[in-house]
Amino acid sequence: PPPVYPACDWPAATAVNAFPQALILGVKKGGTRASLEFLRLHPDRALGSEPHFFNRCYERGLAWYRSLMPRTVEGQITMEKAPSYFVTCEAPHCIHGMSPDTKLIVVVRNLVTWAISNYAQALSRMPGLPSFRALAFCHGLGPVDTAWSAMHIGLYAQHLAHWLCYFPLSHFLFVRGKCLVSNPAGKVGRVLGLKRVITDKHFYFNATKGFPCLKKAQGARQPHCLGKSKGQPHPRVPEAVVQRLHDFYRPFNCKFYQMTGHDFGWD
Ligand code: A3P
Repeated sequence: PPPVYPACDWPAATAVNAFPQALILGVKKGGTRASLEFLRLHPDRALGSEPHFFNRCYERGLAWYRSLMPRTVEGQITMEKAPSYFVTCEAPHCIHGMSPDTKLIVVVRNLVTWAISNYAQALSRMPGLPSFRALAFCHGLGPVDTAWSAMHIGLYAQHLAHWLCYFPLSHFLFVRGKCLVSNPAGKVGRVLGLKRVITDKHFYFNATKGFPCLKKAQGARQPHCLGKSKGQPHPRVPEAVVQRLHDFYRPFNCKFYQMTGHDFGWD
């Protein structure tokens, strides 16, 4: 006869550490933390820590990586997020090696706002930083300085072209960072076709922070807003600088819209 287990002692084989079936690839300052924290509310997913495996410690091996994933039961989706997999050259090859079926989520944002957001974060850490204009343009006046990470990371089309050598477009889900702010429940609820469990009732608008916050985060009783570095005020950047950057990004954006079949409306 089959063994009879006491109610609190089911065999461990029911829960396993699985490789992620879905990865949030980035892009940092796009809204990746919000996506992760909001998805945590969903019972059908399990989110790993942020080990930066595919960009920093791949040599530790896939077995190590899997051991870091939460234990899941059948039907749950394991996910992991990293801020910079999308722009890591080796990541597509390595992730394809882990599983060619991996679903890939990229949180994207208007690139000019995104670049200013990156600058705001850097400025909060290094108050003596040169002005945005000085960093964005060679010698402050010349062509856009694409060597600055806040500029070249935004060339989404180039990064995506590399990924498409390994994964079909159908594996990608592009989430607009802006929608995460305006309609977090609607956006997160639809990620990966999960059951519509996360709804407006999980959020409230925190007027002091100026962003939606969680009424109750997973495992907590208190309301929860994202940390101080998420949703920080942006420095004022002259309109002429903003316009020049829009002009610079326009052809790259156009290419990105063609590749994804979706007009993100950033122009
Ligand atoms: P800003 O700080 O420029 O406003 P990431 O987590 O990928 O680094 O992204 C940070 C960005 O997430 C923030 O950029 C902010 O716009 C966005 N965001 C989206 N939803 C948010 C929320 N509920 N609270 C705070 N920031 C949020």
